Amino acid sequence: MIGYSFMGAAHSQAWRTVNRVYELPARVRMAQICGRDAAKVAEAADRLGWDTHTTDWRALVASDDIDVVDICTPGDSHAEIALAALAAGKHVICEKPLANTVEEARAMTAAAATAGASGVRSMCGFNYRRVPAVALMRQLVAEGRLGTIRHVRATYLQDWIVDPQFPLVWRLQKDKAGSGALGDIGAHIIDLTQFVTGQRITGVSAVTETFVKERPLPGASSGLAAEVDGTATATGTVTVDDAAIFVARLDDGALATYEATRFATGRKNALRVEINGSLGSVVFDLERLNELEFYDASRPATEQGFTRILVTEAEHPYMAAWWPPGHIIGYEHSFTHEMRDFVEAVANGVDPTPSFADALQVQLVLDAVTRSADLGSRWTDVEPALAALAV
Ligand SMILES: NC(=O)c1ccc[n+]([C@@H]2O[C@H](COP(=O)([O-])OP(=O)(O)OC[C@H]3O[C@@H](n4cnc5c(N)ncnc54)[C@H](O)[C@@H]3O)[C@@H](O)[C@H]2O)c1
Repeated sequence: MIGYSFMGAAHSQAWRTVNRVYELPARVRMAQICGRDAAKVAEAADRLGWDTHTTDWRALVASDDIDVVDICTPGDSHAEIALAALAAGKHVICEKPLANTVEEARAMTAAAATAGASGVRSMCGFNYRRVPAVALMRQLVAEGRLGTIRHVRATYLQDWIVDPQFPLVWRLQKDKAGSGALGDIGAHIIDLTQFVTGQRITGVSAVTETFVKERPLPGASSGLAAEVDGTATATGTVTVDDAAIFVARLDDGALATYEATRFATGRKNALRVEINGSLGSVVFDLERLNELEFYDASRPATEQGFTRILVTEAEHPYMAAWWPPGHIIGYEHSFTHEMRDFVEAVANGVDPTPSFADALQVQLVLDAVTRSADLGSRWTDVEPALAALAV
């Protein structure tokens, strides 16, 4: 694993747990963790349960006793690490968004295809696909229970940078993060809605905004937290969007709206998706992660209404291995499910999803959103991923 902070901790938790919960065809050994600070990575290895640690990701990637490389760093290093790992014949799991640019994502996808020909697997970490209620949503759509999908309504709202004194952490710098709310949380709802509906976004019209353009330079930071140094006078320019809002068309005729923002005061990590079809609707709200609301329009008029399904039955996706019905799970479990699917795919010699090609398609949507916003919300088609690969 490269990176030991927010996602490093979340993935470590999943790697520690996955063999204890699921019967898998392979056993995970947490071999080595990498970070840039020797003392901090040593402490992280101990705390998170890794056998050894290093400050040199190239040495880790070249290591003979490592089969899988898990990339938990900011986007500016995803491409370089993934390309080196795939070239060294390692299976790769890479956090989202796949890269900072379409060009990088394209190179990663091409490398994954080449490596895939000799059985090397790769996957991008869109973990929300693995929330049981989201997987159930997809099943209901695939079984035709919603009929023809007409509307997708997706919001992902946070508020961690509302304070203009919150420092200029890497997530607010384009060269490190690629984009702001758009690529960080917008990418999740793009992937999630395409996964659930089985439809791809074909075109967008977008607005983006950077509300606070200058911020104090940061002290120590990780994940969504940073030390605020009240005495610091130096500031830097925010080079990413604080918020991105767009309308979209999906390739089977649905209309969609997306809102991703870090300025929704009071909203901490509020991901909500509603899908309306000709035969029914479903609603998922991450703050009620164990539940799915389902409106089945085929029921008698006297019984119609949204049903709250508690997605904790053994028959529900991923749930059989956990607790008795009604004994709920949380955020971290989505990562355990991610690692379960990844390990199964690698051990069984099949390609896990979402593939790098799937993640490249998300990157192409992010790119279309940015270009549309730059052109005063002009309608912008999303470049087809396969055509992009052929370039
Ligand atoms: N799936 C999710 O829900 C989710 C949530 C948060 C972040 N992410 C993604 O995970 C990735 C990491 O985000 P985070 O929140 O964990 O960031 P973070 O700031 O908490 O941690 C980043 C880690 O990467 C290390 N690092 C940075 N550059 C490095 C390099 N060149 N070599 C070695 N280590 C390096 C840092 O030291 C740190 O340990 C990003 O791509 C982000 O978009 C995904």
